[in-house]
Amino acid sequence: MFRSSSSATARYVSRACAQRRFASTKTVREVLEEVVPKKQLQLKQLKTEHGQAVLGDVKVEHVVGGMRGLKAMLWEASVLDPIEGIRFHGLSIADCQKVLPAAPGGKEIIAESMLWLLLTGKIPTEAETRQLSRELAEKGELPEYIEKLIDSLPSTLHPMTQLGMGVAALNHESKFQQAYERGIKKSEYWTYALEDSLDLLAKLPALAARIYRNIYNPGKPLPKINKDLDLVGNYVNMLGYGDNHDLTEYLRLYIAIHGDHEGGNASAHTSHLVGSTLADPYLAYAAGLYALAGPLHGLANQEVLRWQMNMQKELGGNITHESIKEFLWKTLKSGQVVPGYGHGVLRNPDPRFMALQQFCDTRPALLQDPIVQLVKKTYEVAPAVLKEHGKTKNPYPNVDAASGCVLYHYGLTQFKASHTAYYTVIFGVSRALGCLTQYVWSRALGLPIERPKSLSMDAIEKLIKQ
Ligand SMILES: CC(C)(COP(=O)(O)OP(=O)(O)OC[C@H]1O[C@@H](n2cnc3c(N)ncnc32)[C@H](O)[C@@H]1OP(=O)(O)O)[C@@H](O)C(=O)NCCC(=O)NCCS
Repeated sequence: MFRSSSSATARYVSRACAQRRFASTKTVREVLEEVVPKKQLQLKQLKTEHGQAVLGDVKVEHVVGGMRGLKAMLWEASVLDPIEGIRFHGLSIADCQKVLPAAPGGKEIIAESMLWLLLTGKIPTEAETRQLSRELAEKGELPEYIEKLIDSLPSTLHPMTQLGMGVAALNHESKFQQAYERGIKKSEYWTYALEDSLDLLAKLPALAARIYRNIYNPGKPLPKINKDLDLVGNYVNMLGYGDNHDLTEYLRLYIAIHGDHEGGNASAHTSHLVGSTLADPYLAYAAGLYALAGPLHGLANQEVLRWQMNMQKELGGNITHESIKEFLWKTLKSGQVVPGYGHGVLRNPDPRFMALQQFCDTRPALLQDPIVQLVKKTYEVAPAVLKEHGKTKNPYPNVDAASGCVLYHYGLTQFKASHTAYYTVIFGVSRALGCLTQYVWSRALGLPIERPKSLSMDAIEKLIKQ
């Protein structure tokens, strides 16, 4: 939608800033009503005029190698460049930090302005962002049966399992599913998908905060949703940290920039696949959450914290670059991966990691925190060790190398056992922005059910001989 060269982006950014001062306030639905027909036409033209154009070869290494690099999926909101990192409709994280509205009294991007950009490809005005915040806050309370369901679960059940269960059960509310049963036209699917997606996004903070309360502060009253706060402001409040402005700002930034990472990652791809069966957005996102719960994906933020804390314990008071290097080699020689390093697509330090580091650099309290310092020191050593080890294609940190450790500093220290660690739930709240955006677009574009062709090894050998 937007060109991604830096001068084009700069022009776009300054034009967008100017437009922001004069634009009228629209709802996200109204903007989508304008954008959808244009994108439908674009897809129609792609299919009719370029349907047979070749985008790449399918090699045996793709089939047996997790489809790495295979261009085989449509995803509208963001595209990941191996070197530059993520761009949301052409805008880098730094561009977004310049043009997307923050919360009143805050500086960081918020979930609502990122959601608006992901859904529409346009930059919301301040007023449009506030209007969306208000709408989400008004829809944010959980139905009683969900509260009862979550309260009935054992506190030893992993928070991600609980989150997925709550999201799936919310499909009792699905307007998409009800409309489908009534027999609506295919062209109307996306409007119901949008309503469900906004409803689900609105309820995620209350659901996720209830899980946190039940596991770590049982019996503590949960604050009501404040209609004047943004989504993450309310989330932090319900988690019990509402008086911590820095944590609120950190989570605003983290949730916004972590909201989408193109479509091929496991959670996005899973929710896309499940959505393609016309399962409603709640079921599709619940499926995505269970992909996120794996240690090679979303659980990595908890694994990093566990690993850095073990490092801290083992190396004691005097941690040097040399002792970190030895610890890294010990991890690698024991056959484990270094959590928070490597990536399926990226071949440079993750700009999301760099944005979180920049956030830390502006806060002296964070810079003095031992675990945050250790993350920084590890970054100074790990890429060289991983290069020497020679296996990973990307020896640099990804966003999870820092994210959980910063939360630890801010008081989310409940890490008695991996099976009850909460950090990935916050990632789960964030990634809903991208997965649900694509759900809406997949229905607007009438994308079909996914059905790639699989082959057995014998069938592959036969094809090679032919
Ligand atoms: C993210 C990840 C799953 C990507 O996997 P991938 O696309 O298969 O990565 P590569 O192609 O670079 O993997 C090639 C080899 O390097 C290894 N490797 C990759 N990252 C590694 C790491 N951080 N530490 C040690 N070895 C690593 C792989 O396990 C693989 O080994 P194998 O050939 O014995 O199977 C992988 O880098 C990883 O496990 N990282 C740690 C977990 C993590 O941080 N996940 C969050 C990602 S956002």
